[in-house]
Amino acid sequence: MPKQSPDRITIRRPDDWHLHLRDGAMMEAVTPLSAAHFARAIIMPNLIPPVITGAQAGAYRDRILAALPEGSDFQPLMTCYLTEDTDPDDLARAYEDNIITAVKLYPAGATTNSASGVSDFDKVRPVLERMADIGLPLCVHGEVTDPNIDIFDREAVFIDKVLKPIRKKVPDLKVIMEHVTTENAVDYVRDSRSNLAATITTHHLIINRNHILAGGIKPHYYCLPVAKREKHRIALVAAAISGDKRFFLGTDSAPHTDANKLLPCGCAGCFTAINTMSCLAEVFDAAGAMDKLENFTSLAGPRYYGLAPNEDTITLIKGEPAIYPDHVDTADGPVTVFDPGFPLHWRVA
Ligand code: NCD
Ligand code: ZN
Repeated sequence: MPKQSPDRITIRRPDDWHLHLRDGAMMEAVTPLSAAHFARAIIMPNLIPPVITGAQAGAYRDRILAALPEGSDFQPLMTCYLTEDTDPDDLARAYEDNIITAVKLYPAGATTNSASGVSDFDKVRPVLERMADIGLPLCVHGEVTDPNIDIFDREAVFIDKVLKPIRKKVPDLKVIMEHVTTENAVDYVRDSRSNLAATITTHHLIINRNHILAGGIKPHYYCLPVAKREKHRIALVAAAISGDKRFFLGTDSAPHTDANKLLPCGCAGCFTAINTMSCLAEVFDAAGAMDKLENFTSLAGPRYYGLAPNEDTITLIKGEPAIYPDHVDTADGPVTVFDPGFPLHWRVA
């Protein structure tokens, strides 16, 4: 149980079950920021070119480790990007050698750098069956890419058209539906009996689609899956604060330079690595659910992945609003920090 008073809480150190660290100068700038609060993170493989093989995942892990500050024991948990040509033996070897923790499924074209993703799900059936056999989890970007499907419906349609059939054909596959944004997804996960969990981002607990579109377009709130109506945000908060072990934090902190966000066709992604714990504490406190924060950030994730929770702890304290920089400088250019739109009284001590 967390040690708790109205203005102080100590919880097990959190993990981030969905994180973009990029590569090169961007990786060097953002990696220490996640490592400051989080012990482990599932690292997304959507680099250019994507991280597809076990060898590529191992090399990427080494580059991340080299970008950590002296003395940091942050553990990047690597993923391979599933393609229609993925070799099941290569994945199995990488999993056995402790190089990868999960495999990532992007429907082709669903989001940033997803062109090599899957179009024909039958082609990856043998890989999925092998993963089910050895217990290697599948992280899923749950949106269809059919241009005829409205962007606000793409997650709900994905559940019916793709995820249900996959889980029916490969019932032993351990699936994480990532960054869920709809009541439909929350209900689907809640109604499942086994082998399904979901991550929820920080920003989807805070913004709805009005934040992106009402009163002028706000590119820094544009991410994928796109934020939905308020009733969906409310369903996400209810899931996050419920204590249900099938919902846990995956920040999807996705840094893009301002130059790449503020374009006629700007990139999708919210950068929350710095202020995530403050934002979450604010959300949980407002809902009267501080006692459930630890489950969401530090217990449910490792449990689903079959890992031990972290032994060490962090303490959050409530006081004068914490001041975060509005952007982080990188050698590639500034990256704007997510603005929750309310003061953040909680901060990591
Ligand atoms: C992510 C990115 O920028 O890589 N963007 C986002 O809006 N979340 C990709 C993703 O996770 O969909
Ligand atoms: Zn992501």
